[in-house]
Amino acid sequence: MSPQTWWFLTRAAGIVAWLMLTASVLWGIVLASGAFPEHRRPAWLLDAHRWLGALTVGFLSLHIGALVADSYVHFGLADITIPFASDWKPAAVAAGVLAMWSLLAVQVSSLLRKRISKRTWRAIHLSSYPTFLLVSLHGVFAGTDATQPLYGWTTGATVAAVVGLTVHRLATHGSRPRRPSRPVRTSSSPPVGNARVGPR
Ligand code: HEM
Repeated sequence: MSPQTWWFLTRAAGIVAWLMLTASVLWGIVLASGAFPEHRRPAWLLDAHRWLGALTVGFLSLHIGALVADSYVHFGLADITIPFASDWKPAAVAAGVLAMWSLLAVQVSSLLRKRISKRTWRAIHLSSYPTFLLVSLHGVFAGTDATQPLYGWTTGATVAAVVGLTVHRLATHGSRPRRPSRPVRTSSSPPVGNARVGPR
């Protein structure tokens, strides 16, 4: 095995994790925008959003695991868990460490969704926006590949897509049609459908 294999693996896994995160954030915004109303939305749409989040964490584990295994730059436990502990591009790596904690909080809170209040879950979930920003900054300032034109174009496209959809979501927030509420039956309302009232 080439001594550079771990280094290549950490970079490749970092890029895939970032793309999975982008897709998950975009999918989440589309779901929240009401394009697929909650009561008519097929279950797989939400499952896909969850899966993209899980894949992000999976590739992130590979990114960090390969970084620790690599011997070119030493990364120990403190370097991967405490912001600014690493001497290697400290600010850029700190952005990655903060993004990792935030990502974990989003994933764990979603797993515990039924046990925590909706308000708490939502507050944590909204941190996905700054997380995406932190990861984008981390990739651009820490990444070896950031100078490649393809990397630059991809970064531009992902940031433009997330910012564009977020602005659209904010602009249309409130104009979304509300779910029709059930008709309330009163004693004077006529019977509905085949319902029989009174003795025959
Ligand atoms: C403990 C947290 C993290 C640490 C210590 C860390 C460390 C690093 C390091 C040292 C690099 C530079 C590799 C190079 O020079 O090419 C890097 C690049 C990168 N990281 Fe992270 N990272 C962390 C979290 C994340 C997260 C959360 C993501 C995405 C979800 C991510 C995505 C990337 C990307 C896209 C690159 C650029 C790869 C390249 O240009 O080849 N990282 N990371």
